Amino acid sequence: MSNIILQAMAQQDTILGAVKFDWRQQTAEEYFSDSDGTKFDLAHAVQVLYHVDDHHVTLQNMWEQLADGGHLFALLLSDKRGMGRLFHEIWKWFPHGDDRLRTSLRSSGDVTRSLESSGISYVIAEDEHDVNLAECYKEDSEAGRLILDFLTQTSDVYAHPEMRSAVLEYCLRHSSSVDGKILFKVGSTAIMARKTAQN
Ligand SMILES: C[S@@+](CC[C@H](N)C(=O)[O-])C[C@H]1O[C@@H](n2cnc3c(N)ncnc32)[C@H](O)[C@@H]1O
Repeated sequence: MSNIILQAMAQQDTILGAVKFDWRQQTAEEYFSDSDGTKFDLAHAVQVLYHVDDHHVTLQNMWEQLADGGHLFALLLSDKRGMGRLFHEIWKWFPHGDDRLRTSLRSSGDVTRSLESSGISYVIAEDEHDVNLAECYKEDSEAGRLILDFLTQTSDVYAHPEMRSAVLEYCLRHSSSVDGKILFKVGSTAIMARKTAQN
């Protein structure tokens, strides 16, 4: 969502009246490279950690800037099912490089492993919903093409016909057909960690 829309929403939300905002448009890398060390009660990354250069470094930086008693909140696709699971399959079938974690094919397990390696305890909550993939199975559907690009994290999956057919076949096997819809489960994992004097 653009900064301008977020600012307008925050202004209209009376619950946020007491909150002082410092709006910035920059990447996590830019922010942390020039940070003044301000401590925060909450640091969150909702569906963001796929895109940072290094999710482990970003998590460490977020943790570093939490005040005692502050919370770190991250939400990503679950690697147990759906799209997050598909990311792992895609990497198995079509590895493009020597390290999956250098790509956006990341999921919740990558974050929990990173926290564990830093000795940070966390709690998780799982949620899931269905996405209708019927358009992906129609030849020449622009919507289907865009959904497949999103599912595969590519800019043009049609340029990779083997990947396209492997993903279509996988999704069909892991979907249920209801009233002409092809329902594929997408799961998300919310991960919360609290910083205390001990950790
Ligand atoms: C899927 S959107 C999620 C947006 C919002 N958190 C939400 O849940 O609606 C991914 C967001 O990651 C941001 N992003 C991409 N690269 C980033 C980086 N290096 N550092 C911080 N944010 C980044 C994008 O600008 C985009 O807003």
